Amino acid sequence: MSNKVYIETYGCQMNVADTELVMGILKKNGYELTKLADEANVVLLNTCSVRENAEQRIYGRLGNFKNMKESKPDLVVGILGCMAERLRRDLVEDKKIVDVVVGPDEYRHLPELIDVAFGGGKGIGVRLSRTETYDDIIPYREDGLQAWISVMRGCDKFCTFCVVPFTRGRERSRTLSSVVEEIKQLSMRGFREVTLLGQNVNSYLDNENDFADLLAASAKVDSRIRIRFTTSHPQDLSEKLLYTIAEHSNICNYIHLPVQSGSDRILKMMNRTYNIKHYLGLIEKAKRIIPGVSFSTDIISGFPTETYEDHVMTLDVMRQVRYDGAYMFKYSPREGTKAYKMEDDVSEEIKTKRLQEIIELQQQISFEKNQELVDKEEIILVEGKSRKSDQFLSGRTDTNKVVIVPGTDNIKEGDFIKVKINRATSATLFGDFVEFVFPEDNEIALTA
Ligand code: 5AD
Ligand code: SF4
Repeated sequence: MSNKVYIETYGCQMNVADTELVMGILKKNGYELTKLADEANVVLLNTCSVRENAEQRIYGRLGNFKNMKESKPDLVVGILGCMAERLRRDLVEDKKIVDVVVGPDEYRHLPELIDVAFGGGKGIGVRLSRTETYDDIIPYREDGLQAWISVMRGCDKFCTFCVVPFTRGRERSRTLSSVVEEIKQLSMRGFREVTLLGQNVNSYLDNENDFADLLAASAKVDSRIRIRFTTSHPQDLSEKLLYTIAEHSNICNYIHLPVQSGSDRILKMMNRTYNIKHYLGLIEKAKRIIPGVSFSTDIISGFPTETYEDHVMTLDVMRQVRYDGAYMFKYSPREGTKAYKMEDDVSEEIKTKRLQEIIELQQQISFEKNQELVDKEEIILVEGKSRKSDQFLSGRTDTNKVVIVPGTDNIKEGDFIKVKINRATSATLFGDFVEFVFPEDNEIALTA
């Protein structure tokens, strides 16, 4: 009987992509995947350390598996990802139920490390690597429309609040040719959207090819595949990249550009390496080069020493940029980071209040921006039936907004259609079908 593995994934899209990589590795080694924890003899949690509450949730989940293990003593329980790296042996010693601890650069060795656990030992692999990119490993993906592809790993930015440079190690990039090859395979399987992932994709470098070159080569593979990418650091967002986005109709006009704070003093303490003038200049430049571009961002409220004035500056930046969306967090001190040594002196109450104001402002901006789209036409990729009703279809614009349209027999998943927006809330647009859109066929790139 073959071994059955069940994996749960927490945290960012990089982890979602890593889980597919892990499944690719395990499948190749004879494992079957299961969606039911009860059926599995190996349970893996791919974890996130970026904020304290993520880790707390995962500890809670480990408690559930502890119960499972009591009735099934042979069950192997493993921790993968950032928490594995951060907590290493403590996990095995403190939480005795953990048999396998494998950090993000040691997934290749997972089959051997699970074997160690089957033999009654502890399988530990937490070394970080300067070179591992898993370039040659084919991730396991179910059929679908949308795929994540990690194109670089690690981060060298060392923002003072962030644990990622410690848990995922130094920056390194995959080869351009392997990414293009992966997109070709996805094209043949009928995928319609690919998101290129990295903690800091703009630092991508494969010999003389930078991220703009990678985006251009990716876009050329299949004009019916939309290309998205995340995350961009304001320091490295080049003019060349902006022109590349503008030149290719299947690269989405959407940039996730975390600002973190609107206060230059706080940005300096965060080691973000830009100030607000520079950031807003970049936004203006992008708007000039890419007509209709929109932005999303990450914001942290309550970083050490943040005053009410600093907080108001964050709200100001939000009003100036008018983001389409934002991921908004309360500052969470992470051991090992530079900010951890600073006093976490903004009270929980104030952090919560400021975060609430940030969320409310973003909702208002999203609502207003969506209202501006009423009576306008948008192209969407149809992703399937709407969650609320079988009579309606759901898709997304290239700026990542969800649009709901009445379904008809001839509109299918994976179609690009033009719709006219007739109504909007802060989260969703509603529209009517106008016509089908057929991106011209130029299937396979010459660049590979
Ligand atoms: N506390 C709160 N938010 C954080 N982020 C990263 N580290 C922390 C932290 N210690 C946020 C940043 C980053 C996003 C992925 O998570 O906004 O851009
Ligand atoms: Fe963390 Fe900053 Fe790197 Fe993003 S750029 S992963 S916030 S250190």
